Amino acid sequence: MIKAICRMGHPVLRKRAQLTPHELIFSDSFSQLILDLKDSMKHYGGIGIAAPQIGVDYQVAIIELIGFNRYGEDINFPMTVFVNPKITFLTEEKQGFWEGCLSVPGLRGFVERPKKIRVNYLDYKGQEKELIAEGFLATVIQHELDHLDGILYIDRIKDTRLISYQEEFDQFIMERTLD
Ligand code: NI
Repeated sequence: MIKAICRMGHPVLRKRAQLTPHELIFSDSFSQLILDLKDSMKHYGGIGIAAPQIGVDYQVAIIELIGFNRYGEDINFPMTVFVNPKITFLTEEKQGFWEGCLSVPGLRGFVERPKKIRVNYLDYKGQEKELIAEGFLATVIQHELDHLDGILYIDRIKDTRLISYQEEFDQFIMERTLD
């Protein structure tokens, strides 16, 4: 079911989400949460969404990057559910991307984040998983998992001159970024 997105200012976006209890993963309400996240992400045109964004206080996020071509990277990352994830940075080297967020509609901002990460998490069946990611996918994962810690991407913008409305971004910035 498509849910309303909580926007910046809503307190649920500013608290650390609760750890998902293991027994919840096997419940109908958990399956429903995953469906709601998928439906909402697709409906609003996101590439990832975290449970707090639909007002649910658990450490759950989903990401899907299919046939995604951006910044010269060809990414095919199938729908993945991250439960109770933990990130380890594998390099201090940073990369910057223009990010957007369903909870901060209409804006884009340039954020630098570590280039390569490891994520340990439970999948939708409660199985322990490990994933190494770099490039744009590493940024998307960090953005989504930040939501579970009450952090929005705008908190990580170092240079506030690198914030733009989407339309101005398309008009003045995108062409330069994609080169
Ligand atoms: Ni977001």
